Amino acid sequence: MRIAARPQLTVDISPDGHRPAVEARELVRRFGDLVAVNGVSFEVMPGELFGFLGPNGAGKTTTHRILTTMLAPTSGEARVAGFDVVREPERVRYRIGVVFQEPALDDRLTARENLELHAILYRVRRKWIRQLVEEALEWAELTPHADRLVRTFSGGMKRRLELARALLHRPQVLFLDEPTAGLDPQGRRRLWNQVAVLRRLGMTVFVTTHNMQEAETCDRVAIIDRGRIVAQGSPSELKVQTLGRPDVTLEDVFLHLTGRALRDEEADTRDMLLEFGRRGGELTR
Ligand SMILES: Nc1ncnc2c1ncn2[C@@H]1O[C@H](COP(=O)(O)OP(=O)(O)OP(=O)(O)O)[C@@H](O)[C@H]1O
Ligand SMILES: [Mg+2]
Repeated sequence: MRIAARPQLTVDISPDGHRPAVEARELVRRFGDLVAVNGVSFEVMPGELFGFLGPNGAGKTTTHRILTTMLAPTSGEARVAGFDVVREPERVRYRIGVVFQEPALDDRLTARENLELHAILYRVRRKWIRQLVEEALEWAELTPHADRLVRTFSGGMKRRLELARALLHRPQVLFLDEPTAGLDPQGRRRLWNQVAVLRRLGMTVFVTTHNMQEAETCDRVAIIDRGRIVAQGSPSELKVQTLGRPDVTLEDVFLHLTGRALRDEEADTRDMLLEFGRRGGELTR
């Protein structure tokens, strides 16, 4: 990891710019009978902004958790920044920044304390901690609120703090799971502007989103449905491949590939039927 003498969000691009920054091969993850991720393969090249799209329950967060070493795959392999997520999780962790779908700050601590704790966990050198924390607070525009308990923050303030925290140790690859969910238009715009800055610095960004306008700005996207990737390519490639014309939206492509039914409702109905069956209901005969 390279940190400038006066740190200014310098990032270290993967030493070998030709090797993928993220590589997933035939990833599978089961939860009991459920196959949440079912043979997922893709590559993200250094410096790319890669969008991971899919309906609710498609397997996006499960894939994100495998790539960020939070969850072991049932089978298959993944490498991030050149390291295996199962065999070399520590090496992966030092090189990635993560924003989870669910808020993951300690709200009994202040903003500054959350950042300091992160710096210690990531073994940032003691002499750099103060400066990096100040810079992260500025980046999040939270300097005036640095010593307030996070419990008292708005959702948008927490999201900003989470992004700044994910960047504090200067990761090569940033993983964002629905980073703009719950943000107002100002917050969304701001976050995407920040992502644009990071990309100019050479950072690789893997982002899960339901927002199709956001997905349109990605270099490439993969669409996952029921644990399988059903399409991948640049937004314009997918439009032509799927619907045969460039003047459609990515949302048209998405709905064409994944259907219009609500996945949660589908799951509910299925679960209800299974439960009915378990109790000996007639519907399953
Ligand atoms: N720990 C778990 N135990 C059991 N089932 C799980 C677990 N985590 C996820 N699942 C199931 O795996 C499937 C995929 O979930 P996942 O969270 O990856 O979806 P997602 O694409 O992120 O959806 P969303 O858009 O709603 O965030 C779902 O059916 C979910 O209920
Ligand atoms: Mg999710």
